[in-house]
Amino acid sequence: MSQPSSSITPPLVRTASARIPTVYGAFFLHHYNDARDAKEHLALVMGDVRGRSDALVRVHSECMTGDTFGSLRCDCGEQLHMAMQRIASAAQGVIIYLRQEGRGIGLAQKLRAYNLQDEGYDTVDANLMLGHQADEREYWAAADILRDLGVESIQLLTNNPAKIEQLRGYGIQINGRVPLQPSMHADNAAYLQTKVARMRHLLQLPPAPPTLAGAALTPDLTARISQLQERSLHHFARTHSPHVTISYAQSLDGSLSVEPGAPLALSGATSMTMTHALRAAHDAILVGVGTVLADNPRLTVRLVAGANPQPVVLDSALRTPLDAALLNHPRGLWILTTERSSSDARHALAARGAEIVVLPPDESGRVSLSAALAALYARGVRSVMVEGGAHVLESFVASHLAHYAVITLAPRLVGGLHAYHAGSNGALPRLAQVAYTPAGEDLIVWGEPVWGQPAVDTPALTPEPI
Ligand SMILES: NC(=O)c1ccc[n+]([C@@H]2O[C@H](COP(=O)([O-])OP(=O)(O)OC[C@H]3O[C@@H](n4cnc5c(N)ncnc54)[C@H](OP(=O)(O)O)[C@@H]3O)[C@@H](O)[C@H]2O)c1
Repeated sequence: MSQPSSSITPPLVRTASARIPTVYGAFFLHHYNDARDAKEHLALVMGDVRGRSDALVRVHSECMTGDTFGSLRCDCGEQLHMAMQRIASAAQGVIIYLRQEGRGIGLAQKLRAYNLQDEGYDTVDANLMLGHQADEREYWAAADILRDLGVESIQLLTNNPAKIEQLRGYGIQINGRVPLQPSMHADNAAYLQTKVARMRHLLQLPPAPPTLAGAALTPDLTARISQLQERSLHHFARTHSPHVTISYAQSLDGSLSVEPGAPLALSGATSMTMTHALRAAHDAILVGVGTVLADNPRLTVRLVAGANPQPVVLDSALRTPLDAALLNHPRGLWILTTERSSSDARHALAARGAEIVVLPPDESGRVSLSAALAALYARGVRSVMVEGGAHVLESFVASHLAHYAVITLAPRLVGGLHAYHAGSNGALPRLAQVAYTPAGEDLIVWGEPVWGQPAVDTPALTPEPI
């Protein structure tokens, strides 16, 4: 780390500023020229940070592939958006955008390093083989920008201890670190593991995505889950709304249970393990209060190594019992309700640690699903797995808010509770891009619900006269 010699004129000059409205709220973008590296650096500022202590600050180094094109090879784009969201929720903070692409080696060299990584070298060795250091970034410009903005002290949004040490070395008072936990999937797993193992990054990672501890999953099942995870991230980046996967088990005759309110174990050991891996691949897991009352589920990830998704219950009138297992969930329970719920019930459930979110009703007086998804988005949820029960699945499908379906078919005939009915409010979809994977005795059906005209090779529902 070498600080260039200073000159009489300040090396860093603020040149222009403008208001920038974003999906996360309005920021001010300040443009700087730095005479030392002849680069244009940026500061994206929300709120009044001059004289502020503990300002939220992200010092982000440019990543054209991740920030602009949404590359999944790294976690840069995801961290940038998480930081903008965190700053917007706090209504104050700064993102300093330093023009030092590819940990300082430049875009062309970074692409060459990617090719070496595809040959099996990790991100550190690839840089070294190209004649660079593992990390060539410098933070003097960030320190000068913070001084120019008049920030007193900061909370730094980072997982990188080297960044904290360097900024402190340049005289910045850092009072705390706010971690940014990225999602892990097949394309970035090795990169994130190298960051932890060789660059001291402070990340909590599962051993591998997803590592199995229950029944053995076939490579086909794990690959499908990885692909779904990537699809969710693409959807979120494109639409700025959580991706919704509906997932449930049904008998061959389409029953979810014998009768409403009665639990029934339909999944075999392998499909149950697959369901836990699928949970770990989502940010949130959502059920209706009917499932809480019938099954008293825990909705945790127990059969594979992986993070628990945030549990969410749709409960318009707050019927969730105070002894529900979900109230002991390690992440706490979010209950989405309406004005129909009493303040007594809200206080009692809040006292048990639940977060009660009051939302507008739909036309039937139940929680509006679009309001529910907006509330989850505002809390940073990028993907949600809807695991039942019958009414909630039907609502998501009838409102065209299900983006992907993973349905376990168990080889049984039950003659019980069905999710979908001819009178469903809105046309029912067919599945496109369908795949079938065996899971023990069960069959998993994967597909994208599509509404409208059937594909050419799909048989017509109205039979031809014979
Ligand atoms: N086979 C499987 O994979 C599987 C998975 C889960 C559950 N199940 C079974 O399914 C059964 C439970 O199904 P269920 O239909 O009774 O319960 P559910 O779908 O879990 O919950 C339905 C309740 O959620 C509330 N809700 C709030 N907003 C809603 C909205 N926008 N749309 C729909 N519901 C909304 C409503 O109650 P309020 O009006 O009071 O809010 C509604 O009655 C149980 O027998 C359970 O064992 C099976």
